[in-house]
Amino acid sequence: MTFQSPKGTRDFFPQNLAALHHIESAWRNASVNAGFDEIEGPTFEHLDLYTVKSGDGIVSELFSFTRAGGDVDYALRPEFTPTLARMAAAKGRSLTLPTKWFGIPSHFRAERPQRGRLREFKQWNVDLLGVDKPSADAEVIATAIHALANLGLSHDDIVVRISHRDVVVKMLQENGVPEDKLPIALTLLDKREKMAPDVFAKKLTENDLEPACFEQFDGDTVIDHEELTSLQDELNAWGISDWCTFDFNIVRGLAYYTGIVFEIHERSGAERAIAGGGRYDKLIEMFGGPSMPAVGFGMGDVVLSLVLKDKKLLGDGSEFLPKPDVFVISAGGDADAHLAPTIAMLRNAGLHARMTYRATRNVGKLLTEAAKTDTRFTLILGEELTRGTVVIKDMNSGEQTEVALSDIVSHITA
Ligand code: HAM
Repeated sequence: MTFQSPKGTRDFFPQNLAALHHIESAWRNASVNAGFDEIEGPTFEHLDLYTVKSGDGIVSELFSFTRAGGDVDYALRPEFTPTLARMAAAKGRSLTLPTKWFGIPSHFRAERPQRGRLREFKQWNVDLLGVDKPSADAEVIATAIHALANLGLSHDDIVVRISHRDVVVKMLQENGVPEDKLPIALTLLDKREKMAPDVFAKKLTENDLEPACFEQFDGDTVIDHEELTSLQDELNAWGISDWCTFDFNIVRGLAYYTGIVFEIHERSGAERAIAGGGRYDKLIEMFGGPSMPAVGFGMGDVVLSLVLKDKKLLGDGSEFLPKPDVFVISAGGDADAHLAPTIAMLRNAGLHARMTYRATRNVGKLLTEAAKTDTRFTLILGEELTRGTVVIKDMNSGEQTEVALSDIVSHITA
C-alpha cells in the first residue's frame, strides 16, 4: 500500500523546512523590530466565525467538519483575521491600545491547487488595533516592506498597490453602476486580473454591466481623498513611497474591509499577490467587542518563495541547513573508545558536533565523508591519543594541527 500527501499540501524535508524558516525569521525579525507581539490561536474555529463576515469567496473554500458523534460545525482556519478579531473582542476594554500583534499560523483553503495557491500554507499576519489614522496603515506597510527588504528584495522587484473601498465605489457609481449592482461589480473588479479579458467581458454581459463602467480603472487616476493624501505623506515620512503606488483596481475579496486596502505584488505582475490587507474598523465590534479601528495584512509563504526563487534569492533551501563546527572520526583501535566522550564534550560546550556511523576506519574515506557535511573542522582520534593529543584539520585551509585534549574547544572556537 502506498500513500501520497493530500492534494495541495507539502512535505517539508530538511532543506524545504530550512527555506521556510529563513522566510519566517525575516517575518519574525521585522515584526519584533517594529514592536509587534506574537500571538497564536486554534487551528479550527466554529464555522459561524467565518460565515459572518469573511465573504463568499473564502466561505466556499472552507474545510468544514463536525466532531465524530457531535453536531457542532467547525472549520479549519482559512485566514487569521476572524480569530484575531474574536481574541481582541474577548479582551474587550482591558486591551491596552494600540495593540500590535503578529502571528505566523498555518491556514487551510479548499481551493484548486495551482501555482501560488495550495490547500495548506503559512501566512504572516501583522495587525495594529486602536489607531484610526493612516499612520497605522503606513506602519504596517513599512513592516511588510522591511521583511521583504531583509530577504533581499527591493522596490525594483516589488510594488505595494494601495486603494480605498470608498474611492472605488464612488468611481463605479460615477460611471453609472447602479446601487444593486455594486457588490457584483466590486467582486468582478477584484477578480479581473485573474481572468482572461474575454472571460471578464462575458461576466459583465451576464451581469448586465457596461464595459464602459470599468474603463477609467485602466488608466492612472488622480484622486483627491483626504485619507489617501495623508497616507501618501506618511509613506513619504517612512521613506517607502518608492515601493508604493495608488491603484484603484485593488478591491480585495474579503467582506470585512472598510477603507484603505492594499496588495503587495511582484512588480512585473509575474505571480499572484504576495500579500493583502487593509482596514477592518468594524469587525471587532461585530464580534461583540468595543468599537476598535484595526489595520493589518497577511503575507503567504507560497507566492513569496516563488518570487524569491525567480530572483535567485532562494535556492532549494540546503543553503540554510546548519553546518557542523566539527566532525569527529576515529582511526580505529583504542581510539574508538574516545568517540562518544569526545562528541559529548564538544556538544556540552555548545558546538555542533557530528561523527561517522560507518564501520570503516579508513581515514581518507572518513575525511571525504566529513567534507560532504561542509564541516569547518574534522577532529581525528588516532595514535596521538597516547600523547594526550588529537589532530584537528581545518577543512578550508587543509591545515592539520596537533592539539592537546584540553585545548580542543578553544582551538575550534578561536
Ligand atoms: P488574503 O488576501 O486572503 O488575505 O491572503 C493574504 C495572502 O495569503 C495572499 O496574498 C497569499 O500570499 C496568501 N494566500 C492566500 N490564499 C492562499 C493559498 N490558497 N495558498 C497559498 N497562499 C495563499 C487574508 O487572509 C487577510 N486575512 C489578511 C489580513 C490580515 N487582513 C488584515 N489582516
